[in-house]
This record gives sequence, C-alpha cells and structure tokens, in this order.
Amino acid sequence: MTIVQASDERNRSRSEAAETSIRENVWLHYTQMAAYQNPENRPLMMVKAEGSTLWDADGNAYLDLLAGIYSVNAGYGRRRIVEAMTEQAMALPFVNPFGYTSLPAAELAARLAQLAPLGGDARVFFTSGGSESVETALKLSKQCQMMRGYPNRYKTISRRVAWHGTTIGALSVNGLTGARSYFGPLIPGARHVPMSHRYRCPYCQNAGGCTLACYDEIERMVEFEGPDQVACIITEPVQNSGGCIPPGSPEYFQKIRTLCDQTGILMIMDEVICGFGRLGRMFGSEYFGVTPDIITTAKGITSSYAPLGAVLVRKGIADEFAEAAPEGATAPVREARDTGFAHGLTFGGHPVSCAAANANLDIMLEEDLPGRAAEMGGYLRRELEAAFGSHPNVGDIRGAGLFIGIELVADRETRESFRNAQLLAELSDDMRARGFIVRSDSRNDPTTQLCPPLIITREECDQTVRMLVETITTLGRKLGTIGTSFAGA
Ligand SMILES: Cc1ncc(COP(=O)(O)O)c(C=O)c1O
Repeated sequence: MTIVQASDERNRSRSEAAETSIRENVWLHYTQMAAYQNPENRPLMMVKAEGSTLWDADGNAYLDLLAGIYSVNAGYGRRRIVEAMTEQAMALPFVNPFGYTSLPAAELAARLAQLAPLGGDARVFFTSGGSESVETALKLSKQCQMMRGYPNRYKTISRRVAWHGTTIGALSVNGLTGARSYFGPLIPGARHVPMSHRYRCPYCQNAGGCTLACYDEIERMVEFEGPDQVACIITEPVQNSGGCIPPGSPEYFQKIRTLCDQTGILMIMDEVICGFGRLGRMFGSEYFGVTPDIITTAKGITSSYAPLGAVLVRKGIADEFAEAAPEGATAPVREARDTGFAHGLTFGGHPVSCAAANANLDIMLEEDLPGRAAEMGGYLRRELEAAFGSHPNVGDIRGAGLFIGIELVADRETRESFRNAQLLAELSDDMRARGFIVRSDSRNDPTTQLCPPLIITREECDQTVRMLVETITTLGRKLGTIGTSFAGA
C-alpha cells in the first residue's frame, strides 16, 4: 500500500467515525441537526484540497466556487502559509493581547496600515473573526462619540438584508429578519435603510439610471433620528446577502462620506468579504474610490488558514483615543478619554494567525492576486453574459472582480422572482453532483453566487460556465420556462 493509499484509507475510516459524531455530537452552524438522524443523509466530508479543488472522503473532486465561505482567497495547499504558522507556533504560540503584542502582529499591523485606503498610517485592532470585527467597530464608534462629548450618539444605520455577523451587536445591524428572530430585544438604536440594488430598486429600477433615492433614504433617516444621535453608518462595498449587490451608482459611497463629514457620523466599510483582493483591488473601498473611517476585515486576511480579523481605523480617529479630555469636559467624557479603547479579546491578533496573514499578504502581493481577480473576474463575467444573454431564467448578472451573482428569475421580462425552495435545492444538488460547490443565496431573490479562490484558472472558469448553462437550463425545463431548443442546453 502506498503512502497516498494509506492516507486515503485513514481518511475514509475517520470520516465514518465523524458521521456518527455528526449524528450524535457535533452542532453544525445554522443547521437543523435532525436531518442527520436519518443515516441515508450523509454529510459531505471534505478531506483534502489543492488550488481551487476539494476532495471528499470518497475521493470525489469539487471545484470550490465559494472559496470555503468567501474566504480562501489564495487557494488551498499554500505550504508557505503553513510553514509560517508552524515556525511561529514553535517559537511562541501565544501572547496575551491585553497590553502585549507579538512580532508577527506588529509587522502585520504596520503592513495593513500602509495598504489600507484610509489616508495612510491607520491603527489596527485585531480580533479573531468577522463578527468580532464588526462588534469592535460598533463599540469603537460609540466610545469615540462619547469622547467627543456626544453620549447620546448610540444609534447605528445599516442596510436591510445585509449580513454583518451573529454576535448580538453584529446581529443588531444585520438586516435579515430571519436571523434576528428569537434574540430580541437587540441593541437599541439599530436602524435600517433600504439596499442600493439597481435590479430590484423600489425607486428607480425602471428608470434609465440610478437616481440615488436609496442614498436619500439614509439622509432622511439621519434627519429623522437626529444627526446628534447617530454614531455610525455601516455598509459593505458589494453586499453579499441578497447576492453580490454593488451600489446602484458609484456616487453612493461618496455621498455617504460627505454626509459623515458634515455630521460627525463615522463611516464603517464592512470588508469581511470584499477585502483582500476579492473585488480586484486589495480593499473594496479602493474599488469604489472612497475613504471610510473604519474598515472591518476577517476571512481573506489569512485566506482562512487561521482565524483572524482586523479593524483598520483612520489615524485621526485612532489619535483621538490618545488625546487628553478638553478643559471642562464632563466626567463620562473624561473617563472615556482616560481609558483608551475599552475593549479586548483573548484571541485577537493570535501570533500564529498573524504569521499566516503575513505569509498570505506576501503571496497576494507577489502574485498580484487582486489583479488576477480583476482579470479573471472580467473574463468570467464576459463568458457568463455571452452564455446567458437571452436565458429566460437569468435576470441579472452583477458584482465586481471575482464576486459575481447570477439572479435567477421565473420570467426574464417581468423580473418575476423565482421562489421555489425545492427547485433551488435541486439546483444546488445538481451542481454538487457535477462536482461544483456553489451557493445559491435565497435570502432575497434567489441568486447563484460565484466567489472562487482568486487563483481560479481560465479553464476552471470555462468549466464553471458550461456547468451553469447545463444546470440552469435543466432548472428552466422543470419550471416550464424553457423548451428543448435553448442553445446552451
Ligand atoms: C460582511 C460580513 N461581515 C461580517 C461577517 C461575520 O463574520 P464571521 O462569520 O467571521 O463572524 C460576515 C460573514 O460572512 C460577513 O459576510
């Protein structure tokens, strides 16, 4: 038996034991575990990966068009990241972040400070994931407003349908009703405005161009709530939830910037997905040419080889946390100033994760992965548009870089939404059976999302387009919207 065969054999037997554990012990996230009581229902157990391909315990290969969960940006099998982690774990596996730091964390902060589109020399607060990054940014905004003498600036503005994480603060700014159920009352003051969503815009989807009425809603909300009560506005550059939704107009973020400048509200860009090359630039804010006050990151920062998040803060704002309270300041303002930022997390900036992030950044810069995302994203988008130009069940193809959504519709002309959970599940099953991991987001109108590792090849893009044409055409036949003559079938 060769070493490879022996390892495959070991993986198979471990995966059988894992199936029992999933039935009895493991609690999968956002999963109804009762489904796994049926032994027929076998969870997919991935055991190895290389490049953009995953293999399950039975030896089946899958092209990972979701990059883990929008996160394995540099692809699988990066020995350089693994070696950097091993070296750091052997030298010093952990440093207490409450008052101490590690060499890789300090190096990483300096690099991120220079790379971030925040006007240079940002300060970096490390966390261990996306929800914690959002939580940190919200707390930081509120303390900053308190230090400025605005104790009533506790409200937040975010967008409906948006996803910013699952901890209570992040959940409060989420715009998904289903995710928010059972946990109320959530954080007081969390307000939500409509998305900026050209294809489904309630204000201007039938107009020749975006009228920015979605932005006007933000302004109206600020006026209604009182500008002196709003701490921050949080948005993603391209909104994931609802299916890769860029703003209706490039001016959208610039207008939010101006509003924040005029009112003292802090502008947060949640780049947990859009950061680290996804949109074709290192940061999504760069893609839209806007300078926020705070950028939240996670996922792609280590290409998910280790858990890490980072909150990047514009220097001027970080410096406020180091300034003495002005003469005559009230006691709460003085206390908020004296403390520094009153927040901390044991695993924030874990040295092994920071070593992984540094190696990941080396790869991103040396191989120009943001540039690759722009090039390959452009190619994939053109191929999709050519393949689906007249498909009755494809209403919209949108996104940026390698973050592309294909909105499925029951009727292309009327834009009637395709709301058939059974057929949507069958579509995902069909894709998976053909060896592709794809997410079809049904949190808004159903959208198939492509978010592969940034190293995906042209051939893999071609395979993806062929697979999508076949599976979506099969779906159209089941729906009865497509005859046997569609050229792509
Ligand atoms: C935009 C955005 N923010 C925050 C989060 C939360 O990140 P995590 O799951 O690492 O807590 C996510 C997760 O997908 C996200 O997409």
